Amino acid sequence: MAINWKLIFKAVCYEIYYYVIGAAAIVEDFMNGHRNKLELVQRPGDVAVITGGARGIGVEVVKNLLKCDMHVIIGCRNTKAGERTIERIRSLGVTSGSAECFTLDMASFKSIKEFAANVTVKHPALHLLINNAGIMFVPFSLTEDGYESHFAVNYLGHCLLTHLLLPQLKVGGHSRGLNARIINVSSSAHVAGNINFKDFNLKEMYVASEAYAQSKLAQLLFTKKLESLLRESDSHVQVHAVHPGVVNTDLFNDTTLKKIFPWVPPLLFKTPAQGAITIMHACLSPLLEGCGGNYLSNSRVIANSPKADNKVTQDKLWDAMRKIVEVHMFGEM
Ligand SMILES: NC(=O)c1ccc[n+]([C@@H]2O[C@H](COP(=O)([O-])OP(=O)(O)OC[C@H]3O[C@@H](n4cnc5c(N)ncnc54)[C@H](OP(=O)(O)O)[C@@H]3O)[C@@H](O)[C@H]2O)c1
Repeated sequence: MAINWKLIFKAVCYEIYYYVIGAAAIVEDFMNGHRNKLELVQRPGDVAVITGGARGIGVEVVKNLLKCDMHVIIGCRNTKAGERTIERIRSLGVTSGSAECFTLDMASFKSIKEFAANVTVKHPALHLLINNAGIMFVPFSLTEDGYESHFAVNYLGHCLLTHLLLPQLKVGGHSRGLNARIINVSSSAHVAGNINFKDFNLKEMYVASEAYAQSKLAQLLFTKKLESLLRESDSHVQVHAVHPGVVNTDLFNDTTLKKIFPWVPPLLFKTPAQGAITIMHACLSPLLEGCGGNYLSNSRVIANSPKADNKVTQDKLWDAMRKIVEVHMFGEM
């Protein structure tokens, strides 16, 4: 079998690029960690939806939402794991709020539609949607809908879910007189991303780190475009993108770094509890009221890659996404 040198070169370049981005992100976390503070507010009656809340950073977000006395809906592949997570949080002494789990597989448009229908039947008004579930550096595979896994799980699935829950978020924001918020958990890795409009699936020459970066840039482009449409339609909903920090979770389990230097993540990375803080800040901060469409890290708005601000790319990806998920009027806007 012929060796594909082009592919090897590309994979090595991405590996090096990620070490540079990762190191820069860790330095940013060290320099600005003191800003990463959490001020919880009581929000009884508010309903929050989170994808991937049974593991990793999501668990800490759920814990904080419960401390705010909210009702939390956890979308997860394994509802038993979600219920065990709630039990564990309760055993730590968090008694406020309430939570329930619904089945959700972000790799399946059918599952996302069923999840959204289950949520909507019980909760006609929503106040927070946290698009957190994610995968990183997985081998090439196509979802049942025919899309590359990173692109489908991290990006397309969350676009579809947002579309389906937007009417309920509008109701929630309107009735409370405060904007409902959508938080897209992106990553600093978006700077390494490009949108391959000719081949979203990257099947010509698949490099997993490239696919992850593409999906995280796509989330930022989505955040910016959706925010501009929400402002045009005067909706009581705003959108943020967040980099949670470099956080020691299972996301790194298959990386060369964790395999060769397992002592590095516990030493240099944020804990999941620290990783949840900027997400919570984006959910709650009164300073952000009416100020969406931005990218946050360590609880402050920071500059994103200029690639995410390109309006032509935003529009082109938006149109492609709507075709793929078969949505004519996004969120009935
Ligand atoms: N950790 C970091 O340093 C870091 C940095 C930047 C951005 N992020 C982003 O932060 C988010 C959370 O990551 P994490 O670090 O907490 O990772 P994690 O510990 O690996 O957790 C990932 C979560 O996503 C869920 N998930 C994965 N595929 C799914 C699917 N098809 N359907 C439904 N849920 C699915 C997982 O659920 P299961 O239990 O069912 O697998 C799990 O709850 C991700 O979007 C990630 O890209 C993390």
